[in-house]
Amino acid sequence: MEAFVQIPVNSSFFQQNVKLNLRQKSLGAPRARVARSVTLRMRSWGVRPGGVEKFADELVETANKIASPGRGILAVDESTKTIGKRLATIGVENTETHRRGYRELLFTCQGLGEYISGAILYEETLYQSTRDGRPFVDCLRNIGVIPGIKVDKGLAPLHGAALAHETWCTGLDGLSERAAAYYAQGARFAKWRAVIQIAPGGPTRQAIFENCYGLARYARTVQDQGLVPIIEPEVLLDGDHTIERCAEVQEEVYSILYNLCQQQGVFLEGSLLKPSMTLPGADSKQQVKPDVIAEMTVRTLERTIPAAVPGIMFLSGGMTEEEATINLNALNSRPRKGPWALSFSYGRALQQSCLKSWMGKDENVRAAQEALLARARANSKASLGKYVPGSEPTLDVTGTFEAGYKY
Ligand code: 13P
Repeated sequence: MEAFVQIPVNSSFFQQNVKLNLRQKSLGAPRARVARSVTLRMRSWGVRPGGVEKFADELVETANKIASPGRGILAVDESTKTIGKRLATIGVENTETHRRGYRELLFTCQGLGEYISGAILYEETLYQSTRDGRPFVDCLRNIGVIPGIKVDKGLAPLHGAALAHETWCTGLDGLSERAAAYYAQGARFAKWRAVIQIAPGGPTRQAIFENCYGLARYARTVQDQGLVPIIEPEVLLDGDHTIERCAEVQEEVYSILYNLCQQQGVFLEGSLLKPSMTLPGADSKQQVKPDVIAEMTVRTLERTIPAAVPGIMFLSGGMTEEEATINLNALNSRPRKGPWALSFSYGRALQQSCLKSWMGKDENVRAAQEALLARARANSKASLGKYVPGSEPTLDVTGTFEAGYKY
């Protein structure tokens, strides 16, 4: 079904999707001759109805903005417990005031929107304001960053699994209502992190299916409420496996995931993927160069990720800041068949230098913001394949890998 609609030229949908066309059509005609509105042939997108059809254009617009060239995501959705571990490394107590102060530093960083398109928040943060009362969501919008929200409720043991360490991701109960409330508060995208671990005898099919089912169910549920789902099937770095084994597991996981997304009616054009890169396990002796990581990662993605998905935003998974940037740069420095943007959604690999520069002190806020900007700029360049190793500062020399990492 197709329809003709009037779209005002100053709407954001127009700016993103129509301006270029119109410019081409008018072939240099004076701007004054361009009508104030344009008749457009809208696509129906062919989505399975249930709510998502109402938001389809907006979901596509949001997903494409997040994956726009040279920009990526700042993941700052650490749970209260996890941010406590980060603050402990700089000797800062885990109080609401300190958590709020740290996030204020991030969200008032002028210039960040040039490199960062979206920020994933934890629920507490979505409803917080600056010290002088400006809501964080407004601060983010002011610097050109789209607010997003972590909506899963964490990992739980997978009862009945053959391997005791396997987990599933909780949070489907009440998700629809929570997603609607987050949208009302200003969030426009969501994140759900499911975890798969490579180990002798694993991951089991049960763990793969359970986690992929949860991701697909979540994705469609939040789309019905207007949030772009970031689908995160994290294949952990834990283990001594080779890069080839990692590729094999990721291929299986992503194939099952997108099959289940199709079954659940997920609108792929309005979604994003957040995978780990294809890497040897943290305890593996295998030494692999960035160009091999890039080749294996792109091969895995090309075999499994539909072309309809606009962007693939990698997690950093415990790599150092510089490693994560160099690998992203390698990914964007080679030819590929896949049409998606390859960018970043880094948590640890964007915040280490910033935290270490801050140390909880007001007088260090500007230095901490400069450190954040430097890593954001580095990853922005890497997402375009233009990063020169060592050209931006970092204070993260050891990395933050942690076995069995919880977010
Ligand atoms: P890291 O980049 O620290 O792995 O975290 C990103 C994230 O959002 C994990 O869910």
